[in-house]
Amino acid sequence: MLVHAIPSNVSYDFGADVRDGLTCSGQKELPSKYLYDEVGSALFEVICRLPQYGLTRADERLLRRHADEIVDRLRGPVAVAELGSGSGKKTRWLLEALCRRQRTSYYPVEISRSALVMCERELSDIDSISIVGFEREYLDGLLEVASYRKSGQRLFVLFLGSTIGNFDRPAGVKFLSAVRSVLQPGDSLLLGADLEKSTAQLLEAYDDELGVTAAFNLNLLARTNRELGADFDLRQFAHLAKINPIARSVEMYLQSKQRQTVNIPAAEISVEFEEGETIWTESSHKYSAKEIVATAREGGFRCECQWIDQQWPFSENLLIAE
Ligand code: TRP
Repeated sequence: MLVHAIPSNVSYDFGADVRDGLTCSGQKELPSKYLYDEVGSALFEVICRLPQYGLTRADERLLRRHADEIVDRLRGPVAVAELGSGSGKKTRWLLEALCRRQRTSYYPVEISRSALVMCERELSDIDSISIVGFEREYLDGLLEVASYRKSGQRLFVLFLGSTIGNFDRPAGVKFLSAVRSVLQPGDSLLLGADLEKSTAQLLEAYDDELGVTAAFNLNLLARTNRELGADFDLRQFAHLAKINPIARSVEMYLQSKQRQTVNIPAAEISVEFEEGETIWTESSHKYSAKEIVATAREGGFRCECQWIDQQWPFSENLLIAE
């Protein structure tokens, strides 16, 4: 077992992104990737345990139940790259199944350093595994992993937890195409995608009464205070989850409770908010099972097999690069 992390080389600039997102004309926004600092990653772990947020448990159930079947459908020795591994907990089932068949290199790609550390700790006890974490954005990390490929080895990419839903639909296809362009024919991608469900179920999942999701979303403002010296008064903002029936998504916002001005010294800006004005932080698009197959095809993949959880409609899709 070998565990080490490739040193940080992330190309993002939090201050510049905050400035761009809050000074643009029209809808203000903050990129969702910044939700996952140390506090945010810990809060997200709690969201995943909330009874109302069935998504992660459905993902885990499918992976646990079908791990052997999934890895039996892969051809040839593979190296595993995971885009956004998080804590790595649900990946265990797949990696154990694989490691019973071959020595396995596992490359988690994460921009959250604390998630990467959790993931390496969680999985390093598996026999016949070597773990090398990449603190990188998804595509940069995947390119780097691909450069480590040995001859005759196939890549098995994991994109779990329905992060695909955080892109709008055209951007989802673009992202799959970008992943495909790094792969070779016969490589595979296991794609987790949350499926459509009732408005009531979605609102409970994305606005739980305990307020964990609200805290998770508001932490983005707290992070801006911590890292950029901003003076957001968190009590003057509220978490807002809205269903968009046309986009078939849940949209997450932070809503200003009053007219106010916020100073963000490290981004060299002051921002005015009207009462009721929102900052968009993330959208979570829900798919139909058939739509995933069509989306995969548009991105250059063939759907080899699809598994669906009955308790919480969610799909695991094994896609093969064509
Ligand atoms: N990407 C996750 C999802 O779409 C993350 C998430 C859960 C989230 N609850 C949230 C993001 C609330 C922002 C706000 O399900």
